[in-house]
Amino acid sequence: MTTTLSLSKVTKTFGETRALRDVSFDVAPGERVALLGHNGAGKSTLMKIILGLITLDTGDVRVVDAAPGSAAARRKVAYLPENVAFHPALTGREQIRYYLRLRGEPAALADELLERVGLGHAANRRIGTYSKGMRQRVGLAQALIGAPRLLVLDEPTSGLDPVSRRAFYEMLDGLAADGASILLSSHALTEVEARTDRIVILSGGVLVANDSLAALRRGAALPIQIHVTARPDAADDVAARLNGTRVNGATVTLSCAHGDKLSRLAQITALAGAVEDVEVIPPSLEDLYSHFSQRARS
Ligand SMILES: Nc1ncnc2c1ncn2[C@@H]1O[C@H](COP(=O)(O)OP(=O)(O)O)[C@@H](O)[C@H]1O
Ligand SMILES: [Mg+2]
Repeated sequence: MTTTLSLSKVTKTFGETRALRDVSFDVAPGERVALLGHNGAGKSTLMKIILGLITLDTGDVRVVDAAPGSAAARRKVAYLPENVAFHPALTGREQIRYYLRLRGEPAALADELLERVGLGHAANRRIGTYSKGMRQRVGLAQALIGAPRLLVLDEPTSGLDPVSRRAFYEMLDGLAADGASILLSSHALTEVEARTDRIVILSGGVLVANDSLAALRRGAALPIQIHVTARPDAADDVAARLNGTRVNGATVTLSCAHGDKLSRLAQITALAGAVEDVEVIPPSLEDLYSHFSQRARS
């Protein structure tokens, strides 16, 4: 098997709303894929179709070589819904034991699962006392029951602080290294930059991009920003000679096409005595996101 998840021309309408139109992409074992899109783009709908929670109108979905929602698929796929709620009066251990029993797995596995998501120390505390980040970890512990081959995580890090978010992604890296595939949705664009192998962008139910971040950057050919820090007394001169814009005390900004980057850098280096530092800023995921979404709409 070379794909964990395979989607082909998936279309779904709710009354007048075309939530998804001809969406096709695959996810390989061990691959981390980010599903990006604005509110209403179709992310949650696509995830629910993958899980077999709702049916598609036309198209085809295979999940670990099985039909979505079938017993075979359910054994291999884990889901963390967008707004996961637990019983506040239960302890973390009680909640996970409960899920284990529902899945027909030994309740004694609860501590090991909580340990894996960094909640071993809080197993005896009531979930009502947990922070948002800790509750997300309970959700992840629940999702890990039965060693799934595909994790479907709907906005798993929304509302987490940067430290919890980072810890969450580190856990996902470990799972992917063990061969699990991860499909996670997000509209926090910057956070997925370094954390995913591939990016799929949905805009109004249509897939508008599906590639690695580096390839998307090349394809979009958006301008690169260069920030030059001039010596304080030389800022005006540097701005004039580089034909750049002086933005504050000593910073001069330029914008250039990818193909002109090296020649622009050569011009800057030639001003060596007047320049203290230079920073090259590639287009952000945010820039790419609006580029691809707008292109699809026009
Ligand atoms: N059960 C439903 N009934 C009617 N419309 C729905 C339903 N679920 C989603 N939609 C519509 O489908 C579109 C995609 O929604 P959704 O998949 O939730 O987007 P996202 O998760 O990207 O924010 C939206 O226009 C939404 O209003
Ligand atoms: Mg959603």
